[in-house]
Amino acid sequence: MTPPLTFLGIESSCDDSAAAIVRSGDRAEILSSIVEGQAALHRDFGGVVPEIAARAHAERLDGCVERALADAGIGLGQLDGIAVTAGPGLIGGVLSGVMLARGLAAATGLPLVGVNHLAGHALTPRLTDMQPFPYLMLLVSGGHCQFLIAHGPTRFERLGGTIDDAPGEAFDKTAKILGLSQPGGPAVEAAARDGDARRFAFPRPLLDREGCDLSFSGLKTAVLRARDALVATKGGITTQDRADICAGFQAAVVDVLVEKSRRAVLRYLELGPAVPALAVAGGVAANGPVRTGLEMLCADVGIRLVAPPMALCTDNAAMIAWAGIELVQAGAARDEDLVARPRWPLDPTAPGMLGFGKKGAKA
Ligand code: KG4
Ligand code: ZN
Repeated sequence: MTPPLTFLGIESSCDDSAAAIVRSGDRAEILSSIVEGQAALHRDFGGVVPEIAARAHAERLDGCVERALADAGIGLGQLDGIAVTAGPGLIGGVLSGVMLARGLAAATGLPLVGVNHLAGHALTPRLTDMQPFPYLMLLVSGGHCQFLIAHGPTRFERLGGTIDDAPGEAFDKTAKILGLSQPGGPAVEAAARDGDARRFAFPRPLLDREGCDLSFSGLKTAVLRARDALVATKGGITTQDRADICAGFQAAVVDVLVEKSRRAVLRYLELGPAVPALAVAGGVAANGPVRTGLEMLCADVGIRLVAPPMALCTDNAAMIAWAGIELVQAGAARDEDLVARPRWPLDPTAPGMLGFGKKGAKA
């Protein structure tokens, strides 16, 4: 048995300043987790403004660390190490976190571990559910969308991902096109409850193409066209029109995500995993119909669906602290991982992805 480790985690790669204390053991324990969102700072700009985000992280992160220690009831002296997100993400924010972590490590002499933000998400099923390797991971958020087989704390195999927008971005843009509030996901989901998903025949992008790659930008364009056509013919859109568009859009996202997940699951099952599981992370995993679709798929193929609580699906620092612990326990913490980087693909052998998401690089 490896001795339990208590780690401070620091996360600042996008628009959440976060700090957390996690202790490993027979079951990992989250002693505290502080997340300070910045939604209000960016609302007027229709997306995250990197400069504003970086400044807010620099101003807030040390307060987050103090609160995380206070909530956990421990001091810096009782830690075994510090883990910090070193990428991928908006570079100013990542730098704020890495600089703070370096300062704390220099002052305390504690070991410091640089963590890949996506590895933090991808290792969360082990923090919450002690899920053994290998398992299949679907990351679906405002910035990410990819299928990964997690083979070990540093070995992730990318089966596919979006070639353009992330699904969360598509929800956010759909909300914007229809005059709904941001973040768009919850607003579109709520509007869709009263809608008829069959009224608008939205495309299911890339379903006809083999493999697990996805595309969401054409769907967003289809929503724009549907709205414009209604405005041109009727002079505007009614609440019912809006609900029907949201329902049709959401049904298309669910169909695409579930079908591509099915393909990824079949490839993953070829490995003969001991405890087969599909795990999800990211804000879009909060979507009711997406969850139901994935639950049905998992029931159908006889594997476990691991859906951590929402606070651990979205950006947080507990996942970073945990990933740091896993890296140290595996003897895989490397000095070169402490350099802040905007891009940092989890699977260096997979072909590079195009473009940058609204919230940073789609690594
Ligand atoms: O993981 P997350 O909090 O942040 C990052 O993108 O890193 O994900 C936020 C995204 C937003 O695009 C938001 O619209 C989407 O997740 N989202 C949802 C729902 N709740 C949040 N999308 C669909 N349905 C939801 N209920
Ligand atoms: Zn994230």
